[in-house]
Amino acid sequence: MAVNLSVNFCGVKFKNPLVLASGILGITASSWRNVVKNGAGGVTTKSIWLTEHKGHRNPVIIANEHYMLNAVGLPDAGVEKAREEIGKYLSWKASPLIVSIVAGKVADFGEIAENIAGLKPDIIEVNISCPNVEGEFGKPFACVAADAAQVTREVKKRLDKAGVKIPISVKLSPNVENIVTIAKAVVDAGADALTVMNSMGPGMAINLEMRAPVLANKVGGLTGPALKPIAINFIHDIYKALPGTPIIGTGGVMTGEDAIEMMMAGATLVGVGTGVYYRGIEIFKKITDEMQSWCKANKISNLVSLIGAVQRHSE
Ligand code: DHB
Repeated sequence: MAVNLSVNFCGVKFKNPLVLASGILGITASSWRNVVKNGAGGVTTKSIWLTEHKGHRNPVIIANEHYMLNAVGLPDAGVEKAREEIGKYLSWKASPLIVSIVAGKVADFGEIAENIAGLKPDIIEVNISCPNVEGEFGKPFACVAADAAQVTREVKKRLDKAGVKIPISVKLSPNVENIVTIAKAVVDAGADALTVMNSMGPGMAINLEMRAPVLANKVGGLTGPALKPIAINFIHDIYKALPGTPIIGTGGVMTGEDAIEMMMAGATLVGVGTGVYYRGIEIFKKITDEMQSWCKANKISNLVSLIGAVQRHSE
C-alpha cells in the first residue's frame, strides 16, 4: 500500500512535501504546472519585484559535480506581469503556489504583498536573503535581526490592510552569526513560517586562462549537495527553539533520503532547487518514489510522523 506523503503547511494541504524552490525554471504558469506534472507537491515562483528588474550580465551560473555558483541577479518583469501568470496558474486549481517576493526597500515588500494579495496565492515567501541583493542598509535584510523583523511586520501589515489571510514564510540566510536570533525576531514580528535556507556565500570561481572570475558579477550564491548538513543543523536548531513554527527546508536535497533527513530535523516542506539541474525535472517523481521505498522498508505509514523525529529522539 502507498505511504501517505501528504502534509499540511499553515493550513494548506500538499500531496507530498516537495516544492520547487524559488529561482528555478522560469516564471510562467505553464512551467509551474510542468513541475507539478513531474510530481512536485507545490511550486515556488521566482522572486517577484515591484517593477522590472534587470539581472546580471552573462555568465551568471557555473556548475560542476561538486557545486553550483549563481548570480543571476533576480531578473524579473515586475509584479504586473507576474499577476497574469499567478492568476492563470491559480485558475487551474493545480497544486499549491508559493509566491516569492523580493525588494531593496522595506516599503516595496509591503507594496508587492498587497498587490498580489487579491489573487490569493496559497503562501507568500519573503526573500530577504539573496546574497546579491542588498537592503536599504547595505546588507541583506536577513543578516540583521531588526531589518528582517521590519520587513516581516510591513508585509503582515499590508496583508491585513488588504483583508486577506495569506501565510507568509520568511526566507533566512545561512550567512549570519546566529540564525536562531534572526528566526526568533522574524517570528515575533508575525512570520507564520520560515524557509531555511537561501544559498551560502557569496563564493568566487576563477577562470585560469582569463585570470579573472568566471561570473560577470564576480561572486555568486553557492548551492548544491554540500549545503545539506548546514541546512540540517539550522533546521534542527530553529525547530527546537521555535517548535510551533512550520519550516520549508531547502539546501542540497537530491534524494528521497535527503528529504526525509530534512523532515527528521524539523522541516514540513522540502524545497528542491539545484537538484533539478543534477537529476532533471523528473527529480520530483524520483524523490517521492525514494521516500515511498524508504518508508515502506522502515514501516512508516504516515510521513508526518517523521517531522522533528530527531528532536524527540535526543530529548
Ligand atoms: C540569486 C538569488 C538568490 O536568492 C540566491 O540565493 C543566489 C543568487 C540571484 O538571482 O542572483
